[in-house]
This record gives sequence, C-alpha cells and structure tokens, in this order.
Amino acid sequence: MNLVFNINGAAHSLTLEPRVTLLDTLREHLGLTGTKKGCDHGQCGSCTVIVDGRRVLSCLTFAATCQGKTVTTIEGLARGNDLHSMQAAFIKHDGFQCGYCTPGQICSAIAMLDEAKNGEASYVTQDVRQTPRSVQLSDDEIRERMSGNICRCGAYPNIVAAIQEVHTERAQTWQFMGENNQVIFEAAKAPVKIHEAV
Ligand code: FES
Ligand code: FES
Repeated sequence: MNLVFNINGAAHSLTLEPRVTLLDTLREHLGLTGTKKGCDHGQCGSCTVIVDGRRVLSCLTFAATCQGKTVTTIEGLARGNDLHSMQAAFIKHDGFQCGYCTPGQICSAIAMLDEAKNGEASYVTQDVRQTPRSVQLSDDEIRERMSGNICRCGAYPNIVAAIQEVHTERAQTWQFMGENNQVIFEAAKAPVKIHEAV
C-alpha cells in the first residue's frame, strides 16, 4: 500500500504491506527508535505514540490506518534544546531509571492531560454524567489514567510527580549545573506544543 503520514511535522510517503504495524514502521522503516517495543501485545504501553492528538499503542495499530494522519513520537516533542515541559519534568523528578518505558510514559502523559482537560471520564471518575473540563486530577487519578503504561523499574512515584507538575502548570525555573557552575541544562520557560499537521 502507498501511504502518506505526517510524522513529527514532516510528510513521509511509504510503500508498506497492509499487515505492518505503526510501531515497526517507525522503528524499522523510518529509524525512529525512540518508540520502544516492549511486549508487542498491547500490554505494556512502551510503544505509545500520539495520533491526531490521541494516545495509541503503536504495536496494535496498523500503519495503514494512519493514512493522512498526524503522528507524534518522542523524537517530535522537543524543539532543539527546548524540551517539552513533560520531558523536562521527567528529568527534574527522576521519572525513570532504565528509561525503556519513558518515551511511552511521556507521550501517554501528554495526551492523557488533554483527555482530562476535555472532560473525558476515567474508571475512577465519581460521576460520569458530568464532564467537567480542566478538572484537577489527584495523584490516584493520574495513576489510574496512566495504568496502561507499565514501568518495570517502579519509577511510578516520580512519574506521577512529574505529570502532576505539568498538570498544575507550576513554573519550571530549575537548572542542572556542571563544573564551574556552568548551566548544562535549563528547563523550558514555557510549555512546548507538539507538532500540528502540516
Ligand atoms: Fe505495545 Fe507493549 S509494545 S503495548
Ligand atoms: Fe525502566 Fe520504566 S524506567 S521500565
């Protein structure tokens, strides 16, 4: 099949078999290996990417279903040295150990906060007849909404802290200092938006 996608802000034309997954397309055909293959069975969340603003498991998504759609992977979140605010928060809060689950955690968290902003209910929403927008998520609700993303290193408390920081839109005014007090990393001053369709 001849397919055209917008991936991280650039159009890509590919000829693929209909059975090829989005995950294998990203990793094997486009060299975007930031998206990780954990279980390849829809059970771990490490392959999570954002398609047209919604988080999907790329191991369970046929590339053919993404024809004409906008795909954002972990490689598409930063602008040069300006990290997306979720990436910066994960660094600040040590939201990872081995890092294998991290690309999926970050993509999932970004789309999850949009779901919450849009009033989408979760399993622990108290009253699903109400769809309040911009609700303040508790740590427990963040855990529930992120329950599809497994971390074998158990970095969950720090992952939740990072997501909570972005969710509450607290200013990130921190830096990592190197030798001689040189700034080697500075958090983005303002949240970086993910790519729009081109
Ligand atoms: Fe897709 Fe595990 S690799 S859910
Ligand atoms: Fe190792 Fe999550 S940081 S699996």
